Amino acid sequence: MQFFETSRQIQAACREVRREGRTLGFVPTMGALHEGHLSLVRIARSQCDTVAVSIFVNPLQFGPAEDFSRYPRTFDEDCRKLVAEGVELLFAPGTEEMYPTGACTTVYVEGLSEKLDGKSRPGHFRGVSTVVAKLFEIVHPDRAFFGQKDAAQVAVLRKMVSDLNMDVEIVVCPIVREADGLAMSSRNRYLSPEERRHALVLYRTLSCVRDLVSRGERDASKVIATAAEVIANEPGVRLDYFAIVNPDTLDPVSDVSQAALVAVAAWVGNTRLIDNLLLPANS
Ligand code: PAJ
Repeated sequence: MQFFETSRQIQAACREVRREGRTLGFVPTMGALHEGHLSLVRIARSQCDTVAVSIFVNPLQFGPAEDFSRYPRTFDEDCRKLVAEGVELLFAPGTEEMYPTGACTTVYVEGLSEKLDGKSRPGHFRGVSTVVAKLFEIVHPDRAFFGQKDAAQVAVLRKMVSDLNMDVEIVVCPIVREADGLAMSSRNRYLSPEERRHALVLYRTLSCVRDLVSRGERDASKVIATAAEVIANEPGVRLDYFAIVNPDTLDPVSDVSQAALVAVAAWVGNTRLIDNLLLPANS
């Protein structure tokens, strides 16, 4: 695996990949890699000749009171995992490389960036769309791989790619879960064993929604009321949002016969976790 710290170096390496007529898959991450990230790498591997991964804990997408400084950084372990997956190119820039002093251009997807996580985390999606736009400019991948786990992020990035005519295909990969259903996340390592047990309420609630809908419930407000009650009854868990929305516009839907994204965010102690479920049309 070739490792690059500067955008110029990886830009040249990616140009070479394209010159050789090889397809380039790209998996952007913030490191602390787990099986969720590695599933993206494997899907990229299966679809593209060469795979590039980035590891960059992006300060622009963290709010002032958020966990940027304590976000887990496990670079050596991450490298070992990526080598084992056969990744060819790794880009791990420092902050000054990505945001040199004086940089003042950002990318902002209006509207979508203020919904769901964007509402609870002002500025978050500006940080995400800006860094991903920059990474796309640097790597120029044919395909870029993102997890369904971050469903609002997917909606924002799809819109950015479409609005800015970016020549990249966004591939969305399924949520990878622990054996008991908890969605894998770099932030799960913040949880105490007790919080870890309480955190299961997110998946339990989504499973309960799936059952309700499969038994014929179509009224989104009834589904939301039931789900909110399940979460409210779990000790140590504070609901941020529970929403049923159109997966592209992130606007609420009233009826779940159309394709719908059921999304939840909750605080478990001091850790904010998210999870979701996609309901196909007429499920
Ligand atoms: P990060 O949280 O490191 O996630 C990197 C990618 O892994 C994202 O596309 C995310 O959706 C995916 N992912 C995380 N957990 C997953 C799981 N359990 N199953 C499937 N995929 C999962 O998302 C970011 O970083 C950043 O916002 C980034 C896009 C890199 C921009 O900084």
